[in-house]
Amino acid sequence: MMSHQIVRGMSTACRMSQIKKLVVVGGGQMGAGIAQVSAATGHEVTICDVNEDVLTKSTAAIEKSLQRVASKKFAENPDQGKSFISETMSRIQTSTDPRSCVGDVDLVLEAIVENLKIKQDLFKDLDSIAPAHTIFATNTSSLPVRDIAANTTRKDRFGGVHFFNPVPMMKLVEVVKAYDTSQDTFDALLAWGKALGKTVVSCKDTPGFLVNRLLVPYLLEAVRLYERGDGTKEDIDTAMKLGAGYPMGPFQLLDYVGLDTSKFIIAGWHEMDPTNPLFKPSPLLDRLVAEGKLGMKSGEGFYSYRKY
Ligand code: CAA
Ligand code: NAD
Repeated sequence: MMSHQIVRGMSTACRMSQIKKLVVVGGGQMGAGIAQVSAATGHEVTICDVNEDVLTKSTAAIEKSLQRVASKKFAENPDQGKSFISETMSRIQTSTDPRSCVGDVDLVLEAIVENLKIKQDLFKDLDSIAPAHTIFATNTSSLPVRDIAANTTRKDRFGGVHFFNPVPMMKLVEVVKAYDTSQDTFDALLAWGKALGKTVVSCKDTPGFLVNRLLVPYLLEAVRLYERGDGTKEDIDTAMKLGAGYPMGPFQLLDYVGLDTSKFIIAGWHEMDPTNPLFKPSPLLDRLVAEGKLGMKSGEGFYSYRKY
């Protein structure tokens, strides 16, 4: 990796190629997917999470997903598929201590719980030890990027990179330029998104950026429709799949995204703008989360995924 001293003074195009080594904090569904596509495109990645059990699950999920990718991509040549999997896995490290991993990385991207204070505390801590050139980025679904960056000294080297679930399959990445994000940082993040093979769109730092600002009110409106008894969840899902051509119905998608994440998104927006009916929390969603029914990741949400 080139040193930051050499990078300084180079053209923006050269600087953009600098994201080669990264730390992904949070090894849940999003962090694992982001680490996977990064490693599959030649980047060195360390995934950090709170304990070894989560990291074991993350690496198992990545390996399973890579097998699905390889079975299609290398259908004619299974040996190449095996090499693709083993080379990708060899570029992934894991750790329970993000502080020990950020010393020589170009990017720290967080994909931890959708909670402002927890994200702020993480970046404040890492800001004190990460090298000056290291860019920080958040995969937040709904929180203002500038607020997440607020307690760091590198607001110019801080941006949003919003991926979609499942990361290996979804082709879009939203790259967010917050008020203080420098053009160099923004360009580097755009280039990184493209290097992962994604189509990138530029977004301002507005609630939910582009996709979630449209998608989340739709998902919550489906829950309200169901709460009012206007349709069963199965019929609403079928209606949106067959009548609107969506790959999943809203209840399937809520379970896929995670009901906790969905609740945190709408609760945050409601607090920000309590009079907006689109941001009204759903009692049913809140109850399911309180019962620990978080969707596919916990085995039950609107639907059950347990194998009896
Ligand atoms: N890894 C690798 N490959 C995967 C995969 C994964 N995690 N998930 C699915 N695939 C592949 C499978 O291998 C399969 O390929 P083949 O059958 O041809 O071998 C193909 O994708 C289709 O998968 P499935 O048959 O299991 O199911 P599907 O046809 O319904 O596709 C899906 C799955 C891609 C998830 C599709 O249902 C879909 O696009 N759903 C909508 C997802 C969506 O809207 N995501 C955005 C959520 S919002 C968000 O992410 C932002 C936020 O902040 C909350
Ligand atoms: P998840 O619950 O699957 O994973 C979160 C992970 O973060 C967990 O493994 C947890 O142990 C870990 N974690 C929590 N606090 C931590 C800390 N302080 N340090 C290290 N690890 C910590 O959640 P997810 O669905 O992967 O979502 C993660 C982030 O990505 C959220 O901000 C969410 O809004 C955003 N996001 C989610 C989706 C989605 O569809 N689920 C899509 C785009 C963006």
